Amino acid sequence: MKILVTGGTGYIGSHTVVELQQAGYEVIIADNLINSEASVVDAIGRITGIIPVFEEVDLADPGQADSVFQKHTDIKAVIHFAALKAVGDSVERPLEYYRNNIFSLINLLSSMSRHGVKHIVFSSSCTVYGQPDTLPVKESTARKDAESPYGNTKKIAEDILEDEVRAGSLRCIALRYFNPIGAHPTAMIGELPLGVPDNLVPYITQTAIGKRERLMIFGNDYETKDGTPVRDYIHVVDLAQAHVVALKRMLEDKQISPWEIFNLGTGNGFSVLEVINSFEKVSDMKLNYAFTDRRQGDIEKVWADTEYANQELGWKAERDLDEMMRSAWDWELALNDRNKKN
Ligand code: NAD
Ligand code: WQD
Repeated sequence: MKILVTGGTGYIGSHTVVELQQAGYEVIIADNLINSEASVVDAIGRITGIIPVFEEVDLADPGQADSVFQKHTDIKAVIHFAALKAVGDSVERPLEYYRNNIFSLINLLSSMSRHGVKHIVFSSSCTVYGQPDTLPVKESTARKDAESPYGNTKKIAEDILEDEVRAGSLRCIALRYFNPIGAHPTAMIGELPLGVPDNLVPYITQTAIGKRERLMIFGNDYETKDGTPVRDYIHVVDLAQAHVVALKRMLEDKQISPWEIFNLGTGNGFSVLEVINSFEKVSDMKLNYAFTDRRQGDIEKVWADTEYANQELGWKAERDLDEMMRSAWDWELALNDRNKKN
């Protein structure tokens, strides 16, 4: 069965392609490589023994988006990862984020409708909840005004999808990811941040490898266990596996309603200092870090209520924080070896 994975050379997409292939699906990747490398296609091939079909297209262009469906006439479902995702960058270039993320979705849905493709899994984010009034966050928790244009593209995309499902025969599962970290256990694929990382874990591993001098912790005066913010970090392989489960649910017609939302987290909140401690333990290193002011737009604490995903989706995150940090470190070491050879 052929599945189109947009953004399939990216961080979460590549891990999902591996899981899909290992579950027996045939994958077509569509990606314009704006935030990833073509070499990921070969790396996936080395892990699974199957090189996925790769189409280099910009989905924000309607003609290029449609060309994928014209060429591959038997696509059964789409998993849509392709998007720009840097929160700070989106504040500086809002139009680029709206153009890329919203046009891509509209083009994709138009082509799906034109070519009779009726199933889509969508990458949403816990960012749609903002700082929730109560924790843990349930799927029914109200969404808040977005903190950034990026966050707003996720809210708008959810609304577009829900309206489109209501209007016709489309079926959708929106997955709201908490904080994906870590890498594949083979250390052949992982996160490839361009330039200085915004996110905590790549910043930690790049500091440890010597690419960055020191990690700055944004605030230690929050009302949390140790004053640093708390997040629900989830291993990217657990996240990838949830996509296969969600896809199967849709294809086997097991949805309760054609528009469904699931939170994907572990249900555990860890502070920045706890993440650093875990890293220091698994790497047997001391990390150079210091405290600085809060980062604008950061929330204090958030973690998922996982009951609905566990019960209804039949999926549960299994990998703990140490495994997440160990795999992130192995990936950074593998990247370092690769860079030395080049
Ligand atoms: P990523 O940047 O590694 O992957 C996204 C991929 O989409 C990249 O390979 C990029 O080249 C591609 N892409 C972007 N615009 C495109 C376009 N117009 N046409 C074709 N390809 C395009 O990001 P990721 O971390 O793997 O995130 C995947 C999805 O999950 C995104 O939608 C992101 O918003 C969402 N998400 C990510 C996180 C996170 O922390 N990583 C959290 C919640 C949600
Ligand atoms: C985690 C914690 C920082 C870097 C972002 C997006 C969100 C979602 C996931 C896509 C925070 C602290 C970080 C550093 C630090 N993405 N930190 N020093 O902010 O929870 O979420 O990624 O949908 O939308 O906003 O993740 O990894 O940036 O930060 O102290 O150099 O680490 O303050 O508490 P965040 P993050």
